[in-house]
Amino acid sequence: MTLLVTGGAGFIGSNFVLDWFAAPATQGEPVVTLDALTYAGNPENLAALQGDARHTLVQGDICDRALVDQLLARHRPRAIVHFAAESHVDRSIHGPGAFMRTNVEGTFTLLEAARAYWSALEADAKAAFRFHHVSTDEVYGSLGPGDAAFTETHPYEPNSPYSASKAASDHLVRAWHHTYGLPVLTTNCSNNYGPYHFPEKLIPLMIVNALAGKPLPVYGDGQQVRDWLYVGDHCSAIRAVLAGGRLGEVYNIGGWNEKPNLEIVHTVCALLDELAPAAERGVVSSTSGQAVQRYAELITHVKDRPGHDRRYAIDARKIERELGWRPAETFDTGIRKTVQWYLAHGDWVARVQSGAYRDWVATNYAQR
Ligand code: NAD
Ligand code: TYD
Repeated sequence: MTLLVTGGAGFIGSNFVLDWFAAPATQGEPVVTLDALTYAGNPENLAALQGDARHTLVQGDICDRALVDQLLARHRPRAIVHFAAESHVDRSIHGPGAFMRTNVEGTFTLLEAARAYWSALEADAKAAFRFHHVSTDEVYGSLGPGDAAFTETHPYEPNSPYSASKAASDHLVRAWHHTYGLPVLTTNCSNNYGPYHFPEKLIPLMIVNALAGKPLPVYGDGQQVRDWLYVGDHCSAIRAVLAGGRLGEVYNIGGWNEKPNLEIVHTVCALLDELAPAAERGVVSSTSGQAVQRYAELITHVKDRPGHDRRYAIDARKIERELGWRPAETFDTGIRKTVQWYLAHGDWVARVQSGAYRDWVATNYAQR
């Protein structure tokens, strides 16, 4: 038995692959990771598996049908877990094309390859096969302050090119189940945080900027609300759905942790004040040239994101009721682990902040 994991060198995918081999219930089942290794994919995330015969990393594009066909024929997986995507809302605003290609065309290509492979399987293998599509709560759009959290039947109202591309991919997955009977599972999860999170996203960006004495750019008033889930909890939820989810069903995954962005940034600053005091590290503000006493001094409100969704909230009762899953981490335990991980992995951060990363920072923040 084998899993084919797309996007397994990215943030959540690499956590999933590492956790897969660490989780006793998965019994070391082999994994083939297919990843294009874009700016967001980093083989170093999977370095712990180097030389481990249970893991194979293939650099390739999910839009490459011939390659996907070849991998399915060679490895005969009993499931595909599909993480590969362009995932950053701000990048989707500056360049939506890559999102349509990977998220829509790439998912279509995978579905077609999976359908051809699955159709030809023997009855037992056919019945056991799963296509697990990993998606986001952003497909549901934006909530008002008093609105009920997103359930699995909430209407789709995507507002960014990213969420529109993910919504399109969710619809394709649904249609391949209803039309062709492909045994699919879809999970829609809230904002993840944790190790190996690329420092273009809110939490890792705030950690690395603070340690470098750079401004902490809060979009608009910082009162936009997100639900935050520790990445290890997302991985355990996917394992639970893969093992016991009902075919064709959607499961929302969330952390029961709604927080405004500004509160998140203050929490990160307070943890850094405790674990890596600015005065002891000699942190100097890159804008004023003054010594930083408290990291929160670096918070800077900047121009808001166009079409910025005001609030996301997940109602995760279905996955708890049907599969007994609940997050293991609270926000306090998860964010502390995350800040500690970044403090211990300055070399990883330095390596991912390549020339291409600097170009992105200039593109997104210069005009704000
Ligand atoms: P990420 O950007 O960190 O990683 C994406 C990975 O996909 C990278 O390794 C990249 O190299 C790979 N990839 C991109 N285009 C590819 C292509 N054409 N072919 C093969 N590989 C390709 O993203 P992430 O944050 O780990 O998100 C993983 C999945 O989870 C995405 O589908 C995303 O929509 C979903 N999701 C993310 C969050 C979150 O908070 N990050 C929340 C809910 C759902
Ligand atoms: P992000 O991590 O990009 O995730 P998403 O947009 O998918 O929710 O952003 C999380 C929130 O933080 C979102 O409301 C935008 C906000 N944000 C900032 O205020 N400043 C920043 O520099 C970034 C990257 C995000």
